[in-house]
Amino acid sequence: MNNPIKTIGVFTSGGDAPGMNAAIRAVVRTALYNKIEVVGICRGYEGMIDGEFIRLESHSVSNIIQRGGTFIKTARSERFHTAQGRKQAYENIKKENIDAIIAIGGDGTFRGALAFNQEYNTPIVGIPGTIDNDLFGTDFTIGYDTAINTVVEAVDKIRDTAGSHDMLFFIEVMGRDAGFIALRSGIAVGAEDILVPETTTRVEDLVNKLRFDRRNNKTSGIIIVSEGDDLGGAYKVAEQVKMKCPEFQTRVTVLGHVQRGGNPSCMDRVLSSTMGYEAVLALLDGKSGVMVGIINKQIALTSFEKATKHHQEINKEMLEMARILSL
Ligand code: F6P
Repeated sequence: MNNPIKTIGVFTSGGDAPGMNAAIRAVVRTALYNKIEVVGICRGYEGMIDGEFIRLESHSVSNIIQRGGTFIKTARSERFHTAQGRKQAYENIKKENIDAIIAIGGDGTFRGALAFNQEYNTPIVGIPGTIDNDLFGTDFTIGYDTAINTVVEAVDKIRDTAGSHDMLFFIEVMGRDAGFIALRSGIAVGAEDILVPETTTRVEDLVNKLRFDRRNNKTSGIIIVSEGDDLGGAYKVAEQVKMKCPEFQTRVTVLGHVQRGGNPSCMDRVLSSTMGYEAVLALLDGKSGVMVGIINKQIALTSFEKATKHHQEINKEMLEMARILSL
């Protein structure tokens, strides 16, 4: 079969996630194996608009599978929201002879890709790269596993202090719109409660639970709070609890961007490698406007429209389980 794709452009966009480098490596090596050249588009859509391109050879991606971040850089682009920005980007990729694109990022990235795909005929396939794990069409996104392991490592350390001083810690984790990081890491650290954006947080309920714990001789505690929780983050929750229970010694830790860095876990490296490989195969198979995902261990392609419009649902039963297990 005559393959019309001679050059693939690859970029990372939005918040970085551990495993993005491994995905770029897989894209480059799979493309070269199929006699396709690869151009790295630096700083995501910003670099597409400004024409920042680098040729990627096999050796360009040596020794990066284990590194966090993204060596071709990433950015959030306001300009790509405009038709003018997308036009400029299209003209640049044409000039660079890029016939197809692989976009690695989260929902913002795929909303941009969807708009581009509707306006221009360059095939584009996405790879879900975000620590938030909030994309519909895949069980796991690149970076999520590493991020939750980072949270677990940090919270285990905080537990030592909480226990030694009889303190109640409110630990804020990332996730503006989704509680996946909070839920899974919260279960793994045995948190006394997990507050996520998907459910309404009632201070009264939280206080009752904490008082119950005290009566049961728990002298310290860990509350995991998603940054997007409806009460407004760990500081706000801690303040409200402290007002109702001045006897508790409270502390707040915001884990912040430490969650986005670090060497990708084994799971993230394998996920990134598989998705990078499959994204190239999808382009060779004539696919466009879709995100590569893995659902129940099977490769699945989901349209950008679906991947961005429907959020992956949080498992509320697991929240309930976490509460029971912490009693
Ligand atoms: O989407 C990934 C993410 O880390 C979110 O969890 C977080 O809300 C956001 O990015 C933070 O973005 P920034 O680094 O631009 O402040």
